[in-house]
Amino acid sequence: MENPSGKERDSRSHWDAIYKSVEHERLSWHQQCPRESLEFIEASAISAGSPVIDVGGGTSLLAETLLRRGYEDITVLDCSPAAIDRSRSRLGPMAEKIRWSIGDVRSFRSGKKFMLWHDRAAFHFMVDPDDRRKYLESLNACLDDNGHVVLGTFALSGPDTCSNLDVMRYDEPMISELFAPRFRVISSMFSMHDTPSGHQQDFMFFYLRRRWA
Ligand SMILES: C[S@@+](CC[C@H](N)C(=O)[O-])C[C@H]1O[C@@H](n2cnc3c(N)ncnc32)[C@H](O)[C@@H]1O
Repeated sequence: MENPSGKERDSRSHWDAIYKSVEHERLSWHQQCPRESLEFIEASAISAGSPVIDVGGGTSLLAETLLRRGYEDITVLDCSPAAIDRSRSRLGPMAEKIRWSIGDVRSFRSGKKFMLWHDRAAFHFMVDPDDRRKYLESLNACLDDNGHVVLGTFALSGPDTCSNLDVMRYDEPMISELFAPRFRVISSMFSMHDTPSGHQQDFMFFYLRRRWA
């Protein structure tokens, strides 16, 4: 992260402290199988060689699951170096097949255009409209013109905080409005997440394309 803003430094320390103190299987958002994400990614029918990015990927098993399913060009972006370290060491030599990027999505730019942008549970932390604007600028700058977006957020009936941070909760009309005019929602799905401590959290998943695609 070059010259991070004050907000970006705060996010990095906040998330680093969590990843340094809690085992990844005990984090409330942990999933043994990223079922909904895989369903949408596979339905997008992108080719195995298409560049995919998992934004706010943390210690999710998505990247390694995609690798095992034959996807070849996977990037994980996260603002927490501790999260990336944990994922890399869990994966061992397989980690070398994934590109790991430590950075803040609000200022993220990439030389390559991604064919699929995946985000489960990072966008909903953008409670400030200016952060959402920056997030959308990054998405627009980094996504291929024919790219696909898979977004998982808390549903309207989901929690209003996570990890001591306020979150936004969404339904399809809200995402449609926020991502317009550049993107349109093609489909969405409600999903209940069982946390490792036995609670349930309501999520929504959205599949978006550029308006013209
Ligand atoms: C609730 S966790 C979800 C992790 C992962 N997507 C999953 O489903 O297991 C949110 C993740 O987003 C990352 N994150 C939060 N704000 C971010 C930002 N502004 N830029 C990049 N990553 C961010 C955190 O470090 C954390 O790993």
